[in-house]
Amino acid sequence: MSKQILTRRKFIATGLTFAAGAALVGCGVNNGATPATATTASANTAGGKLEPLPWVYEPIDPEVVRKRGYENYFEGACCYAAGKALIDTIREQVGGPWETLPEDMLRYGRGGALGWGTLCGALNGSLLVMNLVAGDDVAQLGDELLGWYTLFPFPTTKMDDIAKFPNQVTTIAGSPLCHISVSLWANEAGAKINSDEKADRCAKVTGDTAAQAAEILNSWIEGKFNPTYAPGTEFASCLTCHNGSKSALDNEQGKMNCTLCHTDQLQGHP
Ligand code: HEC
Ligand code: HEC
Repeated sequence: MSKQILTRRKFIATGLTFAAGAALVGCGVNNGATPATATTASANTAGGKLEPLPWVYEPIDPEVVRKRGYENYFEGACCYAAGKALIDTIREQVGGPWETLPEDMLRYGRGGALGWGTLCGALNGSLLVMNLVAGDDVAQLGDELLGWYTLFPFPTTKMDDIAKFPNQVTTIAGSPLCHISVSLWANEAGAKINSDEKADRCAKVTGDTAAQAAEILNSWIEGKFNPTYAPGTEFASCLTCHNGSKSALDNEQGKMNCTLCHTDQLQGHP
């Protein structure tokens, strides 16, 4: 057993060193929260150490990402599919540190983390890539992606030419949770969770979300990022009293729409 683990570790380390060597094209370092640019493009330092964030990025074609996100879904589900769509597209265009990531690392995210229905895997995989690209700026960029997801009528028809089930019913989740997103849609469509229709829907959600992540990253790298998401009026006030160190009560963590879960107990509530 332990021998097996050792062999595996050794194998991984060797693989990394090889990949690092193959990708060694420069040695610039970028420690700021500003976008890494092509001029600071650098691969990994030797010895299997990965490049510190942020990683070099250039605008990529969101439609390429969308199609790949859809197709990858049938290979490894949502989180893997979204992350791989973005990573492969960035890798082809800028190379460098992007050569070194094992995309199988994203397989855990399927079904809202191993089928637990928590964070939608399409968001999870996309957020990982946003963090690599944007470093600390992921806070603003990721907020925009998460907020957009909660309000978006998924899925679009933009993958219908390759989809198995074109023109599907759309639903707005109001939430970044896999469970809520999937359940609302499945009810509306009259589909079972393990049906081909539902897989097609989630494949499109994956494509749409990864494409949106690409759009956000593109606008950010071009200095044009302009967030549009704001909490809905039905729960914006809740946040001012309950959420954040500056709020009156500071007794809640989370930016999700409160009214999805808190309903009748709020009678006579301030
Ligand atoms: C003006 C400030 C204010 C706003 C706005 C506000 N709350 Fe509260 N909330 C309070 C106070 C004060 C309490 C009572 C705290 C206590 O008794 O410990 C409370 C209690 C709660 C509780 C505990 C409930 C219980 O029955 O014990 C929940 C849940 C809650 N609020 C959710 C919400 C949600 C959801 C919203 C938005 C729809 C909201 N709050 C808006 C001030 C606010
Ligand atoms: C996914 C469901 C869900 C969402 C979304 C949600 N809550 Fe809750 N919240 C709960 C549950 C479950 C509890 C624990 C049981 C309870 O107190 O109702 C809770 C507890 C609370 C409490 C009581 C904390 C305490 O110390 O007694 C407050 C206050 C609260 N939530 C505020 C909010 C606010 C404000 C939002 C929106 C920003 C929100 N919640 C969003 C499910 C949710």
